Amino acid sequence: MDDIKIITTEDGSHSLLNTSLQETYHSIHGAVQESQYVFIRHGLDYWLKSQSQKKVRILEVGFGTGLNALLTWLYAIEHQLEIVYYSWETRPLSPEITRQLNYANDSRATGLFNTLHQSAWNKEERLSENFVLCKVQDSILTGTLHGGPFDIIYHDAFAPSKQPEMWTLGILKKVTDTLSPGGVWVTYCARGQVKRDLISLGLRVEKLPGPPGKREMLRSIRERSLTA
Ligand SMILES: C[S@@+](CC[C@H](N)C(=O)[O-])C[C@H]1O[C@@H](n2cnc3c(N)ncnc32)[C@H](O)[C@@H]1O
Repeated sequence: MDDIKIITTEDGSHSLLNTSLQETYHSIHGAVQESQYVFIRHGLDYWLKSQSQKKVRILEVGFGTGLNALLTWLYAIEHQLEIVYYSWETRPLSPEITRQLNYANDSRATGLFNTLHQSAWNKEERLSENFVLCKVQDSILTGTLHGGPFDIIYHDAFAPSKQPEMWTLGILKKVTDTLSPGGVWVTYCARGQVKRDLISLGLRVEKLPGPPGKREMLRSIRERSLTA
């Protein structure tokens, strides 16, 4: 893990810099701020407001630091949801790195964060009455997606300029094919080609104002069929 360095972003929360790719895991303008805004507010919270369901299935592309998973679990507790969370990752981080991350601001969150990182890979594990986790150590590019259909997808891959293979039409199709009717795909990225590809897949696409430091982001919805 010599090419991974801990950095502090503008909101005081940590992120990681992959020095080989020269790419950070989150926005340098604020890691927690970005995750909260893009994935929780415009993904989970948005989806929840469109229905009365309390059971939610989420797919994440890129487990990384586990920040999105932690914020999602805290949200599940606060809103009394039952979340099943599948997250794919090719390169799990070492405990030497994850135990230094400053995402938990109280003892309860510290406990949850440690539990996320200590849970087994490639196995569905119930971590609490609110949260079931399956961390999949495999590539989203070649692996067979399972555990769906999903209500929400957090597409949190490295940027298209650094890892274009995570944003091809084929991968967007593979991932969004697992969306349930009314399901929401969300990302921090606002690239025009990604937007056009999602539209070509029959999804409704919205460009939304981005988190601080980013002009725009994308959200995409699989419309419910009128005949269903
Ligand atoms: C932007 S970071 C994810 C940040 C993460 N969601 C978090 O909250 O910290 C992108 C992640 O995608 C992972 N990744 C790269 N290639 C992948 C692949 N083919 N399949 C699954 N994950 C991959 C990287 O190792 C990295 O952890």
